[in-house]
Amino acid sequence: MAKEKSIYVCAECGAEHSKWAGQCADCGAWNSLSEQRATSSVARGGRGGGFAGARSASVEDLSSVPADRAPRHSSGIKELDRVLGGGIVAGSVVLLGGDPGIGKSTLLLQVLAAQSQSAKVLYVSGEESLGQIAARAKRMDASVAGVRCLAETDVEVILASADAERPQLLVIDSIQTCFASELSSTPGSVSQVRETAARLVRFAKTQGISVFLIGHVTKEGGIAGPRVLEHMVDAVLYFEGDSGGRLRILRGIKNRFGAINEIGVFAMTDRGLREVPNPSAMFLSGAHSGQPGSAIVVTREGTRPLLVEVQALVDHSSLSNPRRVAVGVEQNRLALLLAVLHRHGGLSVYDQDVFVNVVGGIRISETAADLPTVLAVASSLRDRPLPERTISFGEIGLAGEIRPVANGEERLKEAAAHGFRTALVSRANAPRKAQVGEMQVVAVDRLVEALDWVAEQS
Ligand code: TYD
Ligand code: MG
Repeated sequence: MAKEKSIYVCAECGAEHSKWAGQCADCGAWNSLSEQRATSSVARGGRGGGFAGARSASVEDLSSVPADRAPRHSSGIKELDRVLGGGIVAGSVVLLGGDPGIGKSTLLLQVLAAQSQSAKVLYVSGEESLGQIAARAKRMDASVAGVRCLAETDVEVILASADAERPQLLVIDSIQTCFASELSSTPGSVSQVRETAARLVRFAKTQGISVFLIGHVTKEGGIAGPRVLEHMVDAVLYFEGDSGGRLRILRGIKNRFGAINEIGVFAMTDRGLREVPNPSAMFLSGAHSGQPGSAIVVTREGTRPLLVEVQALVDHSSLSNPRRVAVGVEQNRLALLLAVLHRHGGLSVYDQDVFVNVVGGIRISETAADLPTVLAVASSLRDRPLPERTISFGEIGLAGEIRPVANGEERLKEAAAHGFRTALVSRANAPRKAQVGEMQVVAVDRLVEALDWVAEQS
């Protein structure tokens, strides 16, 4: 008899390992591996003499296959449509991930309320009772007539009910509460999450029903995170933002039916989520001007320019290894920039703690934030504010040069439109006239020029 084998599955990323380890070798998460029985693949008999017994399928030439035009309909929420690439595709499965309390249930309840006017919708919740959901809808003042709902966690019961109900849109809140009774593992484990999601995906595809799956991002290894499902679904959206603040960003990271990297912006109000169609300046905190350590960057998210404040605090350190804390920008990038600041800007922070934060819970992954980050650090170190109503953007190279970034003209226009007076950018990003609207453009080639210019202004 074949020996039953164990595999170890990471609850964060779903990677499978043959041995247990404290850290997942794939994604680096700690303490996230759990043991599972490997389901042995059943050896097929009769293969010895070729494939005589197997049915062959018809193979087609791709050029003769008519392209599907995925029929879409609006979700009723424009910012969500934008992230989905134009609307909800019939029969598609969308995974909505995010931290607990960020607003996933709220967003989808709003979608359901909007959809229920024109389509049959079903909301399945394993997290809250129907009474709690009704109370939430009442608080949001959402018109929920026609929103069918069910509090259930057994996936077979959910599928049977959905089959009887025949909705066009099905929301599962959340996939981590669903379970298949044949599996012995607890709800939320990797195998349960994968199995229940697979059944729901199959159901969506065969019935042509659009399904939204909610998945909580988890911190501890006991519950599988939404990442283990990313490969199974058609689109993956993440809801971000600091849950203390009001602003929320919906980011698409996978979309089989459209472009990714588009964002939707929402504000959490006491009556649910409100769309922010023109978010450009929403992320500027009120007190940005006149404070040392604050710089404004024009970054881009998807196709939108955003004005965002980068803050730095540099303080004398009593530690032998001073702290470098980066929130919203990459930690390694910060270390690199501090080294360049020392070598090519002549400012050393080796005995200082350096904290950098991007206001509003935004994460900037592009290099355009290099220059403003360094300016904010220098400003805090010198305890001198940057010139008022000034923006900057540009990548900093290891030789201390300021490099251009994409879409410079659009960024400058956006800053000018918001009343900024001066822009400090790479020479290759500066227009010939050195002026955009009312805004003066200062072009620099090297970091030291930028620091000197700032020093002259104050
Ligand atoms: P929720 O949608 O339940 O989060 P998730 O499903 O992602 O866990 O949102 C919960 C938070 O949103 C909660 O802290 C309260 C807040 N909230 C509001 O501020 N206003 C509202 O109208 C609603 C419904 C929720
Ligand atoms: Mg919820």
